[in-house]
Amino acid sequence: MGFSKWVSLVIALHLFIPEFSNSEGVLSQIEGGQIPVYFLDYAKKPELVDYMVSIRRKIHENPELGFEEFETSKLIRAELDHLGIHYKYPVAVTGVVGYIGNGGPPFVAIRADMDALAIEEALEWEHKSKVHGKMHACGHDAHVAMLLGAAKLLQEHRHDLKGTVVLIFQPAEEGGGGARKMVEAGVLDKVDAIFGIHVPARYHIGTVASRYGSLLAGKGFFEAVINGKGGHAAIPQHTIDPILAASNVIISLQHLVSREADPLDSQLVTVAKFEGGGTFNVIPDSVAIGGTFRAFSKEGFVLLKQRIEEVVVKQAGVQRCNATVSFHPNGSPFYPPTVNDRGLHEHFLDVAADMLGTQNVKEAQPVMGAEDFSFLAEAIPGHFCFLGMKNETQGPLASSHSPFYKLNEEVLPYGAALHASLATRYLLKSKLESKSTSQAFHEEL
Ligand SMILES: *[C@@H]1O[C@H](CO)[C@@H](O)[C@H](O)[C@H]1NC(C)=O
Ligand SMILES: *[C@@H]1O[C@H](CO)[C@@H](O)[C@H](O)[C@H]1NC(C)=O
Ligand SMILES: [Zn+2]
Ligand SMILES: [Zn+2]
Repeated sequence: MGFSKWVSLVIALHLFIPEFSNSEGVLSQIEGGQIPVYFLDYAKKPELVDYMVSIRRKIHENPELGFEEFETSKLIRAELDHLGIHYKYPVAVTGVVGYIGNGGPPFVAIRADMDALAIEEALEWEHKSKVHGKMHACGHDAHVAMLLGAAKLLQEHRHDLKGTVVLIFQPAEEGGGGARKMVEAGVLDKVDAIFGIHVPARYHIGTVASRYGSLLAGKGFFEAVINGKGGHAAIPQHTIDPILAASNVIISLQHLVSREADPLDSQLVTVAKFEGGGTFNVIPDSVAIGGTFRAFSKEGFVLLKQRIEEVVVKQAGVQRCNATVSFHPNGSPFYPPTVNDRGLHEHFLDVAADMLGTQNVKEAQPVMGAEDFSFLAEAIPGHFCFLGMKNETQGPLASSHSPFYKLNEEVLPYGAALHASLATRYLLKSKLESKSTSQAFHEEL
């Protein structure tokens, strides 16, 4: 019998005899290169798809904002209990950290974020958000479902794992920096590598995209209050007009990227908030503006921050106004850029190509968006990728953070299988590497 026939027999046996999945050694009987396809076939089984779809819909109906994911966290713990997976809770308020495998090293982590956005869902469908003003418009409901799907796959093959897989369910990705709190709580202390997956609207279903190095930008928010002296709109000489001063501040801020930044070092400053005045004939006392700044390099980021403050204060001063600038509105931390480790990117390319074919593994362009996965990838070697879900025959998908955001649930088995494969193969590879180094060590002796 040829090897591939033998593999299909093993897979077929597996599909038809459910108890087989609980026995030892299914994965050790197939070659490492076959694991991703094996997991994908497994994840596409109706039971597992239905399981993930139902979890995703439950979470979609009950969205919770950052650090308030109490029900979502409870649902996750109930599922882990049901699967017999040991976990730590609470970590960083609502976070959950599960462990699958032999309990010993090496440790590899896979991560999902749990929080929703303060957006009113505009799509009418059966499982629409039931919470006024809150919505899963970034696919984090799917991220949780995919990680639980992976947990099921891995738990059923736990005897084959050559180490321990750490499941990270983190709070508050959207601005709150929940990942930073998870790092501070020590969840990565013994962990060797971490993988994260996001489902954006722009890549096709059945494809993945990533890149080595910087994938997403570092992010900061700023808020400024520009104070003048209000008065009658027709007697400007008795006022100090903060509207005009704020307008000039905004224009001057545009020169930071166009004139001061290295054109080859991508940076961004956007003023997205402008609040001042409320009447046609009154000059207000003050104006509040705010926005975001992004950069890939640390130097670029630090310089932008410093110059935003100087430009706001000094430009406001030109029009006799005072200004104050703050950089952490609502306590949100700066996010570092998301930087993919070279070795882990190669690992990702291998695993994804084995699962989807090389033609479906794309090189991602870096984007100015930000992700708090960066805190995890800053603490230990990390890798973040995009998992496609666009299906032309089903029409275009609204972008993330849109009230019309719609998730293609067909993406769920791909996500579960990719998580499980990245982790399983990582442990397998570490085992082989440590074997060969210990062998080399013996030879030297
Ligand atoms: C700006 O601050 C200075 C010093 O604190 C104060 O004298 C002045 O009145 C302030 N001007 C405005 C427009 O707030
Ligand atoms: C895309 O959508 C069509 C129509 O619903 C479906 O038949 C097809 O399987 C989908 N493609 C993928 C890769 O999921
Ligand atoms: Zn988002
Ligand atoms: Zn997101």
